[in-house]
Amino acid sequence: RERKRKEGVNLLELSASFFRERMKMPEAVGARDYLSNRGLSDEIVGDFGIGYAPDDWEGLKRHLTERGINEAVQIEYGLLVHREDTGRTYDRFRDRVMFPIRDIKGRTIAFGGRVLGDAKPKYLNSPETPVFHKGRELYGLFEARQASNRLERLVIVEGYMDVVALAQFGIRNVVATLGTSTSEDHLSRLFRLVGEVVFCFDGDRAGRQAATRALETVLPLMIDGRQARFLFLPEGEDPDTLVRREGTAAFEDRITCASPLSEFLFDQAASGRDLSRVEECERYASQVLAALGKLPEGVLKSLMLGELSRRTGVDQSRFELLMARNGSTAD
Ligand code: GTP
Ligand code: MN
Ligand code: MN
Ligand code: MN
Ligand code: MN
Repeated sequence: RERKRKEGVNLLELSASFFRERMKMPEAVGARDYLSNRGLSDEIVGDFGIGYAPDDWEGLKRHLTERGINEAVQIEYGLLVHREDTGRTYDRFRDRVMFPIRDIKGRTIAFGGRVLGDAKPKYLNSPETPVFHKGRELYGLFEARQASNRLERLVIVEGYMDVVALAQFGIRNVVATLGTSTSEDHLSRLFRLVGEVVFCFDGDRAGRQAATRALETVLPLMIDGRQARFLFLPEGEDPDTLVRREGTAAFEDRITCASPLSEFLFDQAASGRDLSRVEECERYASQVLAALGKLPEGVLKSLMLGELSRRTGVDQSRFELLMARNGSTAD
């Protein structure tokens, strides 16, 4: 079993260097143009180890097979696809820009591949493998740690390109989830490294929904003075488009001015409600209380209850009573 795992690690590194080498070949001119049109320099492409999967059904397969990696392992690690009906095997990634996904020590554990044009699917990821669990990994974490040995804050964005584009503009403390929502596992890993996370999702409906889910997920983790903040981008923008339009300083200002968790939580509950109406104010209070119920006991929770009391004019002790009752009936 251990031998097999070593074989897998070896195969992933061989694949990453294969893709990087291919990026230098004449056949990759389209991929190089694509990256330079997106504003990425050779240096950043190098820092992230970005490569190119050739437009070939068996390019990587031949390369790996010649190096003694058997097909079963290539399939297990997601580089080769096996079709049950025909029995045929072929490269999963073809004619795509390849982003190696690295673990915290810099070992390649999977890949994300982007088409050069508008074809679907836009991104293709490695499947779950013995070393890759999508819901756990964060793209760019290794690179962020390489860029600074004193990280204080990490920004969480949606996409590979957002991480790389921000790095191109000198903002290197950025990670992305891999097309999944931010999990508690992601966040506990980040909070082991930094005291502050800033959520920065796309300025679209999906991005706003993701922020709401992220709030729910982060609430139980708010201990020891940890900070969580929320950055909302203008409609239609993602970090990549915005940093290219506004530049580094403006984007950094947005990070600095991102809403603290408390502000987002109250704003979110108030949105669409007329708090001068009794019933709407009651629903507002219930929504805030439900969220506060997820916060660990501590100063933050007490302060938030005090704030809720000021905002509604209802005595804090009343809310504490309600909360205790909700707590004992929940789940
Ligand atoms: P660009 O168009 O290259 O700028 O991509 P983007 O990162 O802005 O894409 P988008 O905002 O649509 O999606 C955010 C992230 O979701 C991507 O970076 C991927 O991780 C994931 N994603 C998007 N489209 C797909 C897809 O077709 N398949 C899979 N598996 N993941 C996707
Ligand atoms: Mn560099
Ligand atoms: Mn989006
Ligand atoms: Mn996007
Ligand atoms: Mn984008």
